[in-house]
Amino acid sequence: MTERDVRLGTVQETLLIPLYGRAVENRKKDAALRDARAEEIVASIDYDFARFENLPSLVGTVLRTSLFDRWVTDFLAENPTGTVVELGTGLNTRYERVDNGKARWFDLDLPDVIELRRTLFTDTPRRTMIAASVTDSAWADTVATGSTGPYLFAAEAVLPFLEEQDVRHVVDLIADRFPGSLLALDTAGPGIVGTQDEHDALSKVEARMRWACADPAELADWRPGSRLLASHRLTSLPPRMHEELPSAYQEMLAGLADQRLPQVEEYQLTLVQLP
Ligand SMILES: C[S@@+](CC[C@H](N)C(=O)[O-])C[C@H]1O[C@@H](n2cnc3c(N)ncnc32)[C@H](O)[C@@H]1O
Repeated sequence: MTERDVRLGTVQETLLIPLYGRAVENRKKDAALRDARAEEIVASIDYDFARFENLPSLVGTVLRTSLFDRWVTDFLAENPTGTVVELGTGLNTRYERVDNGKARWFDLDLPDVIELRRTLFTDTPRRTMIAASVTDSAWADTVATGSTGPYLFAAEAVLPFLEEQDVRHVVDLIADRFPGSLLALDTAGPGIVGTQDEHDALSKVEARMRWACADPAELADWRPGSRLLASHRLTSLPPRMHEELPSAYQEMLAGLADQRLPQVEEYQLTLVQLP
């Protein structure tokens, strides 16, 4: 397989962490999710992935992705021809994992990421890549003219890298242009953002988180009428998901819950319905 020489900007490089997490997971006998495509992509990229080997947070990225997959699957069960918009998609392979053959998908990321993505994925009548910053309002026109909704926006491991004013702008943009849409996001509290230089994976790259969010319920205050549909820590995943995890993961999460580590407790995965 041809090796791709990856030259990505600072924040863009972080996409390689969850990509590697899914590839490693796919090699496990008992896995929380399967992602053969991620394994193929990692093999095709010239990058020193060894720096992420055996990092505990890789499992965290996989559990996060698995929960986002469930939210998208549930959304598509209720809205089979709905629209899924991946904000900061990286080399995410959610379409490969959960597409239902009818939904409309958009994958948005910064131009160098989309350039790399285009060497691996192809646009189709139901699947469109958008090269733009999530903070640039113009992407909303592309989505609005190319789809009918209803909409689920998945911002997985993206918004914490923005300044809070930019996160507010993105939330306002989605709420104004796509009223009633769902937004899946993750938030890191001040204890995590303040100690990120020691974070096992982030300490291996240059990008740093900017937006510290102590409580994702704040989002409902930003846009009155928003409804928090779900909010989970890795130690309080939905019971059905928890039951389906390999037993080693269930035991590991029970141990983590007992320790009440700020790095774990301050990290939340949230699904909100905007007004
Ligand atoms: C940690 S990666 C997550 C990638 C993907 N969501 C996943 O879970 O595999 C963060 C991603 O956010 C993207 N990103 C960061 N700032 C962005 C911005 N202003 N506009 C669009 N994408 C951005 C990066 O390029 C990168 O792909």
